[in-house]
Amino acid sequence: TRALRAGLLAWYGRNRRDLPWRRSRDPYAIWVAEIMLQQTRVAVVVERYQQFLQRFPTLVSLALAPEQDVLAMWSGLGYYRRARMLRKAAQFVSENLHGNLPVKAEELRILPGIGVYTAAAVASIAHNEPVAVVDGNVERVLCRFAGWGAGSRKGGGTALRRKVEDLARRFLDRARPGAFNQAMMEL
Ligand code: ADE
Repeated sequence: TRALRAGLLAWYGRNRRDLPWRRSRDPYAIWVAEIMLQQTRVAVVVERYQQFLQRFPTLVSLALAPEQDVLAMWSGLGYYRRARMLRKAAQFVSENLHGNLPVKAEELRILPGIGVYTAAAVASIAHNEPVAVVDGNVERVLCRFAGWGAGSRKGGGTALRRKVEDLARRFLDRARPGAFNQAMMEL
């Protein structure tokens, strides 16, 4: 396991794409990227991401913006419900949490639109919390690795999903969880 971890991280170091959200350590900026990336391809997100952050550079600026402005800046990304939830979550954080996004994955999940995946992605990438991310990409990679054939198709079911999550947790590099999770997704 240690050798595989080291190999994966070395590969990532050589091959990681220079993506705009990877230049930021701002949890808000990372959160926005992860929401966009959930249902939209990386190439499309890259085009829209920087303009969105220029218009809404902080969580509070997003919270104060009219919904129509946020939806306008979301154009091209699709699934506009994500944009409404993002703004709602920003409002909740600025009204109830002094504008500070929660740090822990478990606390992030309280927010509208933040599920298990987004919470783990933001907490591990922004704060290096050792929580494993399992998205569709990671599930495919781990299923192939373990020889669980069902992962190449839809519908492995919740039992398979559990097994994949367990494997992801065991495989996770607890010293560099943010880099490790992004390496798994990149692979
Ligand atoms: N897909 C979703 N989040 C990602 C990330 N941080 N890096 C690569 N692919 C992703």
